[in-house]
Amino acid sequence: MVKSVNVAIIGSGVVGSSYISQLKNLKSNIVFNVVYLAKTSESALYTTDYKPVDLASYETATTSPILPLNDLVKYLKGANRPTILVDNTSSQAIADYYPTFIKEGISIATPNKKAFSSDLKSWTEIFQAVEQPGAGLVYHECSVGAALPIIAPLKDLIATGDKVDSIEGIFSGTLSYIFNEFSTAEKSDVKFSDVVIKAKELGYTEPDPRDDLNGLDVARKVTILARLSGLDVEGPTSFPVESLIPKELEGVSSVAEFLEKLPNYDADIQKVKDEAFAEGKVLRFVGKVDVNANKVSVGIGKYGFDHPFASLKGSDNVVSIKTSKYPNPLIIQGAGAGAEITAHGVLADTIKIAERI
Ligand SMILES: NC(=O)c1ccc[n+]([C@@H]2O[C@H](COP(=O)([O-])OP(=O)(O)OC[C@H]3O[C@@H](n4cnc5c(N)ncnc54)[C@H](OP(=O)(O)O)[C@@H]3O)[C@@H](O)[C@H]2O)c1
Repeated sequence: MVKSVNVAIIGSGVVGSSYISQLKNLKSNIVFNVVYLAKTSESALYTTDYKPVDLASYETATTSPILPLNDLVKYLKGANRPTILVDNTSSQAIADYYPTFIKEGISIATPNKKAFSSDLKSWTEIFQAVEQPGAGLVYHECSVGAALPIIAPLKDLIATGDKVDSIEGIFSGTLSYIFNEFSTAEKSDVKFSDVVIKAKELGYTEPDPRDDLNGLDVARKVTILARLSGLDVEGPTSFPVESLIPKELEGVSSVAEFLEKLPNYDADIQKVKDEAFAEGKVLRFVGKVDVNANKVSVGIGKYGFDHPFASLKGSDNVVSIKTSKYPNPLIIQGAGAGAEITAHGVLADTIKIAERI
């Protein structure tokens, strides 16, 4: 008999629309019936008799208002089929609802970091819910390093008795690009503010680059990895996070004014870069988890010209995981952002869940 699962997709932004297109073209021996598709935070496609949404015409199809989350749970449960909720948003409200979905037997595949990187209570609630009989599964590979295989191998190592000593990595595509351009093994006079402006022009930054420069996105990813490694990290602001926003510019209201004033602070970071260069090192913006010392941090680090972090290209991410089995660290490197690749990772999680439920 052909296996068939129901899928509810939330969000059709850049990742969501790539996901829908990849699912539409997927060749699989499992049938994925999309019984609910929330295109936006207001409009959705679904029918009361669970007729699958036509993914070829969803963009122009007539929509209904989205179901409130409690009604969505009831609707999905009413089908009496194994069901996967694919959350392609960055919504905190949806993330807060994961324990309810999971307890009701609905599994989750998501690139949304919020549920896993906010307060420890939410994390505990999710993973306690997963342990209950009949509960749904949760896969969130793309919440760190987009589709790079980081969470799955880390979980496999831990599940098979390995002990994580430390994790260190470059987890922001934007800050990877900025530092790869700014600080190189060849002497260069490139200015920090010029690289930030170029990154924004290329579409690598958030609309407000301060949302990248404040380090919080990296802190969220490091929180997830620290928790997976066994540390009870309270949240992404409960450990030292170095912000690259000059103190004086934190309160500046417009992005334009921020970018106009940023060159006034180039000398400070240039000095740090020059000192590192004199030691044969480059600067990189890294997240660190020291499991033995129970320490987590995010900030600028210095790495020798021959270190794997120093030769990183473009906006790639890299993570170095040191464990009892891998005293010479396991290094995972590659594209750590991008809608297509992220959607590919979320789809791989969806397939893994479908195979298990
Ligand atoms: N883009 C990447 O390279 C990348 C990489 C790794 C991880 N991620 C993660 O992937 C997720 C999606 O990112 P994205 O770049 O695709 O974002 P995006 O383009 O902003 O899309 C988000 C989508 O979610 C919808 N949405 C938000 N709240 C909703 C709600 N309550 N109900 C239904 N729909 C809702 C939005 O609709 P409205 O416009 O109506 O709000 C929009 O369609 C995020 O968690 C992000 O951190 C992205």
